[in-house]
Amino acid sequence: MGWLSRLSAVAALATTALAAEASTSSKSSTAAEPCAQIAKLVKAGAPSFSSQLAVACLQSTPFKSDLAVSFVDEVRKYLEWHSTTEILRNPPPGALSATVDLFGGLANIRDRASANLYKSQYDFDADLFHLLSFANDGHLVIVPCSLVFNFRSAVRLASLSSNGIEVPRLYTLGDGKLLAQGNKDVSPVTLINGVGAEAFTEQFSETIGLQDPDARYNYMMTNVPIARDGNEAPGGYSAFPTFPGMHDFNLTYANGTQQSIPLTADVSSRLGTDFTFQTGDELWDAACKPKPASSDDSSQKKRADSSSSAKEKPAPETYPKPIVKDPFNLIIGYLPDDKGLEDVAVLTVPTFETQDLASGIPTNEIANFALEAQDFVLKAVAAGKSKIIIDVTNNGGGVVASGFGLVSVFFPNMTIFSATRFRSTPGTQFLVETISRFPGSAADPDLAQSGYFVPGLVKPDQKSTFDSAEDFLGPFDVLGVPSTAIVAENNFALTNETLNPINIYGQGGILNGTTPPFAPENIVILTDGRCSSTCTIFVNHMIPYGVRVVTTGGRPQAGPMQGIGGVKGAQVLAFSDIAGAFVAAQTLVQNATDSKKPLFTDKEMSVFSPYIPLQLEDLPLRLTGGSVNFRNAFSPFDDQTPTQFVYQAADCRLFYTAEALIKPESLWVNVADSIWGDADCVFTSAPRKAIKSAGTKTDSSKAAATSAVSGSTDESDEVEQDDTEASAPKKKKTKAPAHKALGLLLAMAEGLRG
Ligand SMILES: *[C@@H]1O[C@H](CO)[C@@H](O)[C@H](O)[C@H]1NC(C)=O
Ligand SMILES: *[C@@H]1O[C@H](CO)[C@@H](O)[C@H](O)[C@H]1NC(C)=O
Ligand SMILES: *[C@@H]1O[C@H](CO)[C@@H](O)[C@H](O)[C@H]1NC(C)=O
Ligand SMILES: *[C@@H]1O[C@H](CO)[C@@H](O)[C@H](O)[C@H]1NC(C)=O
Ligand SMILES: *[C@@H]1O[C@H](CO)[C@@H](O)[C@H](O)[C@H]1NC(C)=O
Ligand SMILES: *[C@@H]1O[C@H](CO)[C@@H](O)[C@H](O)[C@H]1NC(C)=O
Repeated sequence: MGWLSRLSAVAALATTALAAEASTSSKSSTAAEPCAQIAKLVKAGAPSFSSQLAVACLQSTPFKSDLAVSFVDEVRKYLEWHSTTEILRNPPPGALSATVDLFGGLANIRDRASANLYKSQYDFDADLFHLLSFANDGHLVIVPCSLVFNFRSAVRLASLSSNGIEVPRLYTLGDGKLLAQGNKDVSPVTLINGVGAEAFTEQFSETIGLQDPDARYNYMMTNVPIARDGNEAPGGYSAFPTFPGMHDFNLTYANGTQQSIPLTADVSSRLGTDFTFQTGDELWDAACKPKPASSDDSSQKKRADSSSSAKEKPAPETYPKPIVKDPFNLIIGYLPDDKGLEDVAVLTVPTFETQDLASGIPTNEIANFALEAQDFVLKAVAAGKSKIIIDVTNNGGGVVASGFGLVSVFFPNMTIFSATRFRSTPGTQFLVETISRFPGSAADPDLAQSGYFVPGLVKPDQKSTFDSAEDFLGPFDVLGVPSTAIVAENNFALTNETLNPINIYGQGGILNGTTPPFAPENIVILTDGRCSSTCTIFVNHMIPYGVRVVTTGGRPQAGPMQGIGGVKGAQVLAFSDIAGAFVAAQTLVQNATDSKKPLFTDKEMSVFSPYIPLQLEDLPLRLTGGSVNFRNAFSPFDDQTPTQFVYQAADCRLFYTAEALIKPESLWVNVADSIWGDADCVFTSAPRKAIKSAGTKTDSSKAAATSAVSGSTDESDEVEQDDTEASAPKKKKTKAPAHKALGLLLAMAEGLRG
């Protein structure tokens, strides 16, 4: 239970690794420093090196107890912003992941650091990284300085059912493709490192940033080898940001054959420089030693990246010919002609990351994305398609406005319900009080729409506001979390319809639909459980109209599976966003003080001060990245339980077949057969009534809102809706919280996202 036993699991892993190292290094005590050996290999052009060498190099980094202790103290101030800390320690019944005590674990790490029990920077960093990953929240991530290698393996596994209903078995991807071609002469993988292969996989995926165990199982698999965005998707066995605890994967097949697959390592781009280090100390200086702000080239690098423009991507191989295709494959529409899909259009939406300056996507992509969706829907209807599958397999989220925009393509001009809370602790209170008290805030759009300016906030009705900052800040006890009152993430009336087209309240801009293009019972959302943040917002806004969710794969057992297995939090905040917000607030405080109208008394400041963190560049150890889940989302029927902690089974569950490995649309055929034909599901949930009218009259939005509330009595446990916002991209990162919701951890393991 809790952090303690998990900590010992981590410690056990570390100890195993150390023992393995001790035996190798005693043999070769005269050999060169491990980091120097890596530098030599890299210089000679080797693409990778042994994981043993990588671990030995990491473990030769120095550990500086005093720096580590003060680093933990500062990191804690950032983690104070994470929205579910108390709930993770004491989750409501039905939560599927283990409990974790984040602050208890942090105190434990601090104690060990203080007692100088860590042998290297890497051992300390790995503990921090793993502590946060136990929360299974893709928004809660820390990337400490020494995580400079990727560990990789050639293991590619697919979980395959003979017919989509029978419990699946594990095969290598190569064998799965042979099966798909009719070659029955292959054996499933029965053991990995001597443990049942399925159980090993389930346990091995325990700390992935997905809250649902079936979603995590799918993460390990390569059941969709070419992702919907066209990238190769090699599965979770292919890459790890920390040493996974074993230097090889030994596969045993049902026919008794054994195969040993070694782990390798390479230098991550996170290091940001060539690997030329002769010792662990040199590596530490380059990766972990704080840099003076002026010599910081990483921000320059980022700026350079953002000016480069992204290249158009080719259409995904093995898929049918696209009818509508986004240049970056953010959204692709198909009209397949397979038997069983005669009436069915398919829209794949692998991401909502429509705004990603670092990758050079143009700024009007948020609008393009919505327009492409509308364009496809019109073409599908014109081609006589009456049904649609929206495939959001492995969609990690992105820009919230794009999620709402897509909902509004299918249900134009409906109301959108947004209800969130964030933590109310001295750190967040300082920001809200500063911006709400500062006399100039109302006149400054960045401050007025920052989400911290109380007169500018609206309640979920999108009309009323709060009488005072105190009214908003409470704090209110919500499952033990000191929280703000319920608030809409954004005031939709302020949404810029040119930049962020959302077809509600008659302000869709380029989105001009007036009637739903498909009946709700003719819309199916397909997920593999790996649906996080903005993806969950999209799905949870479609469900109340009567749209059904089909989910695929998961652990090899019959029974229900959640369609949404990723974080349902409404907003992620990077540590850099938090740092920027504090700088902005402190500037206002100083401004008011200079004008002889101080915002706070000394007594008030003494409460806030301990919660104001050092800026990232002033941290005692360098930090590569970090983020928290800032806002919890709530359904219209329950303002106490964040949607994150509500179990939602999909309407229908299917397993993968081998055929889908080489012909992805065969999965769409199976989905259509199960929902609109007479094929079975592995598990079917009891049918739900729609709680929102998707009537064809254009004036139905008011009626929809009313029915959403009146439907609450008997549907509360099944139908829920999450929240959130849409806002114009803010130029000044300082004040405006990122209006993004996406799983960072998932993006971290290089190679998993092509
Ligand atoms: C056993 O099964 C594996 C995996 O399908 C296969 O590669 C191998 O050739 C088989 N060995 C024998 C002796 O049949
Ligand atoms: C894998 O098998 C090899 C021998 O074939 C053995 O040396 C190694 O320890 C095994 N690895 C694991 C993680 O079990
Ligand atoms: C919306 O954004 C566009 C593009 O930045 C800008 O030209 C326009 O003035 C904005 N509209 C409103 C109402 O602010
Ligand atoms: C959408 O709804 C708003 C009111 O909510 C109404 O003013 C507007 O005319 C509607 N637009 C369309 C296209 O139906
Ligand atoms: C909506 O806009 C599209 C172009 O974006 C246009 O082709 C279509 O005619 C418009 N529909 C209506 C009803 O105005
Ligand atoms: C304080 O901010 C206002 C605008 O909000 C600005 O006009 C003024 O110059 C600032 N004063 C100081 C002392 O920085």
